[in-house]
Amino acid sequence: MSDRDPLPFLRDFRHAAPYIRAHRGKTFVIVFGGEAMASRKLPELVEDVVLLHSLGVRLVLVAGSRPQIEQRIAERGGESRYHGGLRITDEDALAAVKESAGVNRVELERLLTVSLPGSPMAGARIRVAAGNFVTARPCGVLQGVDLMHTGRVRRVDAEAIRQRLDDEAIVILTPLGYSLTGEAFNLSTPELAAETAIALGAEKLLALAEAKTWSQRGERIGELTLAELDARLASKRPIAQDLRLHLEAAARAVRGGVGRAHVLPRKADGALLRELFTREGLGTLVSREPYEDVRPALPRDVPALLQLLAPLEAQGVLVHRPREVLENDVDRFRVLERDGLILACAAFYPYPADATGELACVAVDQRHQHAGRGAAMLEAVEREARERGMRSLFVLTTQSDHFFRAHGFEPTPASKLPAARPAYDERRKSKVLFKPL
Ligand code: ARG
Repeated sequence: MSDRDPLPFLRDFRHAAPYIRAHRGKTFVIVFGGEAMASRKLPELVEDVVLLHSLGVRLVLVAGSRPQIEQRIAERGGESRYHGGLRITDEDALAAVKESAGVNRVELERLLTVSLPGSPMAGARIRVAAGNFVTARPCGVLQGVDLMHTGRVRRVDAEAIRQRLDDEAIVILTPLGYSLTGEAFNLSTPELAAETAIALGAEKLLALAEAKTWSQRGERIGELTLAELDARLASKRPIAQDLRLHLEAAARAVRGGVGRAHVLPRKADGALLRELFTREGLGTLVSREPYEDVRPALPRDVPALLQLLAPLEAQGVLVHRPREVLENDVDRFRVLERDGLILACAAFYPYPADATGELACVAVDQRHQHAGRGAAMLEAVEREARERGMRSLFVLTTQSDHFFRAHGFEPTPASKLPAARPAYDERRKSKVLFKPL
């Protein structure tokens, strides 16, 4: 470290620190398929899980086993049969399910016990807990097809899991559930993970999908509200099967009260850590409310506003607003917030007598520019002005008139400014632009 540039380290560490604090003591359900279990990279995945555990995150792992089950069935000369994405689990298939689940559980227990020198939990003993936490019921006959030992989650014993988590154990679930009549049922892994997260009131469901990052026209779909996800799932656009199952589970979990569901590309290095400890993440985040949202500014935002505006004031793009002015005018401001960080702001000063209002102080954090945030602020203020019965919006600018013109503002003589407005500053020679609403 000594002779290397310390800046990237410092920047990333400071960026991660608020999340380290936010995630401590929270409950996360992490689900992955049997592909992850079969991968050479499983030890690395487990190492990241151990790191999370060492940071005080309460963890439930849900490990699928589809490829392992298929292999076992094939080895016995059988054939895997599916109906509507669900396995038809006959006696032979059920035996394969039990064996695969058992082997996967043992494998995870073994890896969680490995103590690598230099790893976050070196020398510490991690407890692992598994058990009969899930009761199931049969799927029954669907469209005339008997799914036999394929089941659905009836109940997750959240109390029992919670006790293990209180005891600092990592809980492992495999896609098996038991019925009160003594039968075992084969469950869908994503569904089991979602139901478990709901029953526990977990803060997060993290799904490690086999597909690449979900994207559209080459751009990652980074965040969606529940309603947006529902719309996409209902649309005709094809989605890879494994991704779809995880997205459906994500929707189910968020609908059931889980704070955030994340669908990540399992094959990306350190996917869990990158998603959890950066603001941008690398997967798709689903939540009830938008991840980034414009809201009225509050007095506690003043320090952040000062920081956001300082560089623009120094460049002369914005007029200087001392702290007292901001404190007084904070009601006029709208901010764009993302996980506690203010990324952009804009202010609105109404002149009701002239049915117009001034859009002022539009600023976007320099590290987060070129993503439409300026336009988002503009839109929010426009909407508000319209709701308050304004017929136009105006802005004074020295350097950004192209931006405003691109958004429907037109150059107007300064004499058109409302009489009630503080006098036009002849030295600044700002351009005046109006937009009819
Ligand atoms: N690290 C944050 C979290 O754990 C934000 C992740 C953002 N992810 C995204 N795909 N937009 O909640």
